[in-house]
Amino acid sequence: MLERELDRDELFLQELRGGAFRTTDELAHALRVDADELAALATALRQRGYEIEERPGLGYRLAASREILSATDISAGLQTERLGKKIYTCGKIGSTNSLAHELARAGAAEGTLVIADHQTRGRGRLGRRWSSPPGVGIWMSLILRPALPPERAPALTLVAAVSVASAVRSVGLPVWVKWPNDVIVASGRKVCGILSEMEASLDAIEYVILGVGINVNQGLSDFEPPLRDVATSLRLELERTVIRSSLVSDMLNEFEPAYRTFCIDGLAPLLPRIRESSSFLGQRVAVWIEKEAVVGQVVDIDEEGQLVLRRDHGQIERLPAREVSRVQLSDVSGDTGEEPEQCCS
Ligand code: BTN
Repeated sequence: MLERELDRDELFLQELRGGAFRTTDELAHALRVDADELAALATALRQRGYEIEERPGLGYRLAASREILSATDISAGLQTERLGKKIYTCGKIGSTNSLAHELARAGAAEGTLVIADHQTRGRGRLGRRWSSPPGVGIWMSLILRPALPPERAPALTLVAAVSVASAVRSVGLPVWVKWPNDVIVASGRKVCGILSEMEASLDAIEYVILGVGINVNQGLSDFEPPLRDVATSLRLELERTVIRSSLVSDMLNEFEPAYRTFCIDGLAPLLPRIRESSSFLGQRVAVWIEKEAVVGQVVDIDEEGQLVLRRDHGQIERLPAREVSRVQLSDVSGDTGEEPEQCCS
């Protein structure tokens, strides 16, 4: 039932894709629905921001200019063996991570992708809200079933962040990974956040949901004022629209070999890429662990994916990502230690 509903949305858009009118009969037949259900589907798609025109005698057509997130296009761009072989596309959904949990619990295969045009209850790290307006972002969750002990899972976020960064660079935008889970542009504004959630027993991972949010085609007005200082979109930076479907394929194409390497050999072979991508190496930062700020110079990211800091008195400290609520560049005079406003886009 769930699968059928998700696929019908996608099918309808595929049928309308050429931009020409398709008759109600043709569409109803292709989608195996009646005329009323077709009208309801068209209304739902309009609510998602698709310009669907209906004319008596001619049927329906999609105004040509719209950039569409499409499972068919994502699949066409994939060079993967396992990731994205099954894709659930949703119009409006609470959170793709929540649906991915449901699917994973029901036995969905490794590599299953859930992607939405709009999230109404997008979740960020540490219980924060993730703004996910319709038609402009990549809001996706990947189901992974790595044969790894649970303590290795947090580093997956870093592997995914490096893959997102490579995919974004390939559309022409220089970006860096802000350890542990963000991708940022030169101004420090965030274009991507990653939320990985795990279900595990004491010694084995059952599944990991890798939730990736990328700000792709938002205009300035899509960001509420407090977010404008800390978040941006690829479109705002590049001054052009970016095709979301091909960015999703590129990200999965980048991520699959890195994920395979990580599962077999750990983080070590990926560290040169991670270090190269990192925005923090050599910088003085403040890292918040609960309400406490630890200040020091970043000297490395280690094989466990921990941030290695040299404190002012020379002591080396290794900070695991899961305990960290916020990291920011710190001025030489040091930080107050107070937790700042949240900066989730
Ligand atoms: C963060 O930076 O705090 C992580 C944000 C993660 C957002 C993505 S959007 C797709 C997936 N579904 C969610 O509800 N959250 C993640």
